[in-house]
Amino acid sequence: MTLSELKAHYASHGQSHVFAGWDTLSDKQRSAFQTQLESVDLDLLADLYLLRNEPSAALPAREYIDPLPVVGADEVPPSAKTAGELALWNSEVAVLVVAGGQGTRLGFDKPKGLFPIGPVSGASLFQIHAEKVLALSWKYETEVPLLVMTSAATHAETVEFFHEEGFFGLAESQVKFFQQGTMPALDLATGQLLLDAPGQLFLGPNGHGGTLTALHDSGLLAELEAAGIKQIFYFQVDNPLVKIADPSFVGQHIQSRAEVSSKVVFKEVGEEKVGILALLDGRCGIVEYSDMPTEMLNERGDDGALAFRAGNPAIHIFDVPFLKRITTGAHRLGYHIAKKKVPYYDDATGTTVTPTVENALKFELFVFDALPLADRWLAVQTVRDEEFAPLKNATGNDSPDSARALMIAQAYRWLGLPKGSVPVEISPLYALDADEARSKVEASFAPTVPTYLQAE
Ligand code: UTP
Repeated sequence: MTLSELKAHYASHGQSHVFAGWDTLSDKQRSAFQTQLESVDLDLLADLYLLRNEPSAALPAREYIDPLPVVGADEVPPSAKTAGELALWNSEVAVLVVAGGQGTRLGFDKPKGLFPIGPVSGASLFQIHAEKVLALSWKYETEVPLLVMTSAATHAETVEFFHEEGFFGLAESQVKFFQQGTMPALDLATGQLLLDAPGQLFLGPNGHGGTLTALHDSGLLAELEAAGIKQIFYFQVDNPLVKIADPSFVGQHIQSRAEVSSKVVFKEVGEEKVGILALLDGRCGIVEYSDMPTEMLNERGDDGALAFRAGNPAIHIFDVPFLKRITTGAHRLGYHIAKKKVPYYDDATGTTVTPTVENALKFELFVFDALPLADRWLAVQTVRDEEFAPLKNATGNDSPDSARALMIAQAYRWLGLPKGSVPVEISPLYALDADEARSKVEASFAPTVPTYLQAE
């Protein structure tokens, strides 16, 4: 597109203001800005702007929403673990961590994966995840691929951190970074594109749903398939307790021939802020807690338990052929619209404005919108304290303090000890589960000082 065609295109969408600072830009800046502007889908943004006041999720009518059948944590067939271990031995499983979010609630000035969460060791989230992958690689005598999805906001620091830390013992070729896409933001009142600076649009990560398209568009999905990978274990960077590529879960997924499998934590309180897995129009889907009416959140079944209690800890297994199917053609996911406070460059005054109220629309893809596209699915209950310690906020619920307390409590449980007063932490290189941990400590083990159990 020539510059005058681009200007005409932006003018026809009422977006000419982006060119206001054009004359002040160097040739290099102009060329970069032109490339950026050419990549924006103005028709899509105009359509999304029209939807800004629509209810955020068009939930089916109540009679088309049902609780999702979930396999209980105590109903796992013993053969599942063997099936999962075989898949690991055969190098058919890759591990994917999404780490592109900006972690605004935590208020940490680096990517969340760098956060020192280890209660005794101070190990970062990335170290803990990478060491789980390393331990699996040792155990199954293979190099389990670790796919790290970053975003423009987190990429450079994440890659640098892995280099600085020697890839935490993993082979460099085992770790594959790929970047999710970006999305512009629109001014809430006018629908105009927000700028970061003259010659620079505001661009944010396009949501964790961006993972699936990025996996395909980067060529990584094809590469994994060619290498014989059949399942991708998906999790979020901010959960230090996640049981990465849990062999029983992998095996259950394979044995049930599901296209997507999800772990579920049972909710105890109706209004807990966690997404809910449910049957929507007969298919497995996830409803955000904010989109489910309060009566439904608190609805109880005949057994007295919450009817919609299948909480989403964002732990899934995706089949590679399923991912291929949904990342091509008409199956691409739709955007969710959120009203947010976004600082922006105001070309009228030449200053950056930090808003105090929501001023912008941001658009994100959600990975769980892929679930209803699966023809076969599986949901498996996991014990919350064993696998879910979300790190979202600086204090209070889901904070570093609560996550560390859960890690310490797990270490005591794994060691078969009553809860003690000093912190104990188990490195993934020491043990990946309770049986392994217990087999390694002396029967007389009784910690009196902060203790980090690590590989010798
Ligand atoms: P959250 O939705 O909790 O967002 O992400 P966040 O960035 O961690 O935190 P806030 O909302 O800004 O406080 C859940 C997971 O999805 C990833 C995050 O890195 C985290 O692992 N994510 C989120 C992405 O990879 N990309 C995104 O665009 C958004």
